[in-house]
Amino acid sequence: MKRIVAGRYELGEVLGKGATGQVFAARDIEEGHEVALKILDPSLAGDENFVARFKREVRILQGVASRSVVPILSAGWDGKTFFIAYERLYGETLDKRLRRVARLPMSEARPLVRQLLKALAATHEVGVIHRDVKPANIFLEGGDARKAERLRLLDFGISKWEAGDGHGTLSALTRTGDVLGTCRYMAPEQFENPADVDGRADLFAAGAVAFRILTGAMPYGGGDSLALIMTNVLTLPPRTLQTVTGVSWPTSLEDFFTRAFVHRDERFGSASEMLDAWMDAPTGSDVPEPSSFQPEPLAQYADSASGNDTRSDSTHPA
Ligand SMILES: Nc1ncnc2c1ncn2[C@@H]1O[C@H](COP(=O)(O)OP(=O)(O)O)[C@@H](O)[C@H]1O
Ligand SMILES: [Mg+2]
Repeated sequence: MKRIVAGRYELGEVLGKGATGQVFAARDIEEGHEVALKILDPSLAGDENFVARFKREVRILQGVASRSVVPILSAGWDGKTFFIAYERLYGETLDKRLRRVARLPMSEARPLVRQLLKALAATHEVGVIHRDVKPANIFLEGGDARKAERLRLLDFGISKWEAGDGHGTLSALTRTGDVLGTCRYMAPEQFENPADVDGRADLFAAGAVAFRILTGAMPYGGGDSLALIMTNVLTLPPRTLQTVTGVSWPTSLEDFFTRAFVHRDERFGSASEMLDAWMDAPTGSDVPEPSSFQPEPLAQYADSASGNDTRSDSTHPA
């Protein structure tokens, strides 16, 4: 028998797994359309940290409501289960895309990063810091011959309102795999004090995403423990495009990443400033094609070892 949540959502296949539970494809039998339903893991329903994370995501999504963010349809508690119903998106996450192709040519990277920075500009404009920008939380809605692919930001579970609500820290992130997946994109100040971050932490993460899109590698390399990744981010200079690919890149593109990963006082000041710099970056034949270098093996990134969007069992204790 099919499982029904809140008397109206008939659950289908699992679309993804994350820190707090699972996201299912589901059918809204009242309205007769498909949705994506996030369900809080029953073992966490008694844990106020996770329940708070769930509720915060609902409040924030209702507040952001931008075309570049996943639309929320309803949410609540049906007596047994906390759920969030989102509009069902069709396509794949950036995480899935990069597992398949490792890196993208500038012609594809340019519109994706442009949309990511526009999404962050819209989010920041209403005073929300995402705090968990990474490929698994970026969805690419399928384009076709007539319409371009559209990027949507997912997962506002550890986001915060810039003014207040700062006590909603990363304490809800206690599952090893999730912390690892997240911290590879995390700004140094977010390790030091997650409550104190501003929009510039999202810009660091967006820079790390852009770096991976272009090179298939991460600016601070691999490392399979939180302690190691944190030490690298806090003590080492970021690697350059040239270091990770072995080929030379235009200086202004290297400079773009330097400004994304530097201490936040010297970082891009806003998403729109970073967007302007991105749109000014060279796109010509001096930008290496993906075929001109080998991407680093992804296996060195522990959270990326599994073949799907989610963490492997070994990094995601039940
Ligand atoms: N609206 C949606 N449509 C299709 N797939 C989705 C949708 N929302 C989430 N997913 C899938 O579920 C995964 C987990 O969702 P996410 O919101 O990131 O939850 P978590 O907090 O558990 O990480 C995503 O990486 C994506 O693969
Ligand atoms: Mg997620």
